[in-house]
Amino acid sequence: MGTVERNETGAAGLAARYQDYFDIGAAVNLTTIKSQRDLLAQHYNSITAENDMKFERLQPEEGHYTFEAADRIAAFAEEHGMKLRGHTLVWHNQTPEWVFKGKDGQTAGRELLLSRMKFHIDRVVGRYKGRAYAWDVVNEVIEDKSDIWLRSSPWLDILGEDFIAEAFRCAHEADPEAVLFYNDYNESDPVKRDKIIRLLRSLKEKDVPVHGMGMQGHWNLNGPSLEEIRAAIEGYASLGLQVQITELDISVFDFEDRRTGLVRPTAEMEEKQSERYDAVFRLLREYKDVITAVTFWGAADDYTWLNDFPVRGRKNWPFVFDEKHEPKSSFWRIADWEE
Ligand code: GLA
Repeated sequence: MGTVERNETGAAGLAARYQDYFDIGAAVNLTTIKSQRDLLAQHYNSITAENDMKFERLQPEEGHYTFEAADRIAAFAEEHGMKLRGHTLVWHNQTPEWVFKGKDGQTAGRELLLSRMKFHIDRVVGRYKGRAYAWDVVNEVIEDKSDIWLRSSPWLDILGEDFIAEAFRCAHEADPEAVLFYNDYNESDPVKRDKIIRLLRSLKEKDVPVHGMGMQGHWNLNGPSLEEIRAAIEGYASLGLQVQITELDISVFDFEDRRTGLVRPTAEMEEKQSERYDAVFRLLREYKDVITAVTFWGAADDYTWLNDFPVRGRKNWPFVFDEKHEPKSSFWRIADWEE
């Protein structure tokens, strides 16, 4: 059996339990680094800024950089001996409108947008050089609908598909040591997976410095299937990339389930969730040679973006620690296993 004691709050902690496997990370913000401080320090050895390193937070107006929040998160990581993942440089969401506008208010031209992209990446990656060991360079450029490859966005529409390669080149130049990721959701869906692989393969063929695939891992009790997750990990790893689960949460609701009004998860949900965590982590441990980190998109059930998404105001309980930061049965299933 595992080395953690059941009567203590996970004793040595989850990250210590996984030291021979992969890092255990959590997404944080300025509230949770206080409200979840002890839990984070005990169980996680890596953090990602949930929002504070996104374009709109770091450069809300052209040339006006606001690094205070991101700096505090970087300092929190240093203070606790945690690794820091940078998230995220080029994305169609949470990017201010000015980025895509020219001086005349019209759509920005190619040269202008490209120089803004490069300038932003250079400044941001440069600032956290040696502190953020990895970056999600490009986020979510693959279209979910099956007959389209790349998602329409101002980045794609103005720059054409080469902006993806340029973003990676630029990040690599700014910090040649940083591990550079492409990051996406629905990453285990076979159709989307193959489109992602097509993108990553084309980047590798052009010698673009891409080093890892970030599988976001916004999963639920029923999907994706273990077979799909396995095939996705194998597909991405077959390109010679390292793999991380970058935003793991296991919602107790299926995406289509729009029920409201539950004040606590049902016993059945808890049971299914712990079985699911058990099965998922068994699978992830099998791939410890290619998986370098598993980051949860939060740390405990008192705070999760899923409390509002996709149903506004609805509570969700996606993690392995409960609202009081106590380990759930899901925690014991992933912390305590037969070798
Ligand atoms: C995507 C992004 C994350 C976050 C989630 C929702 O997965 O990569 O930064 O915004 O959506 O919380």
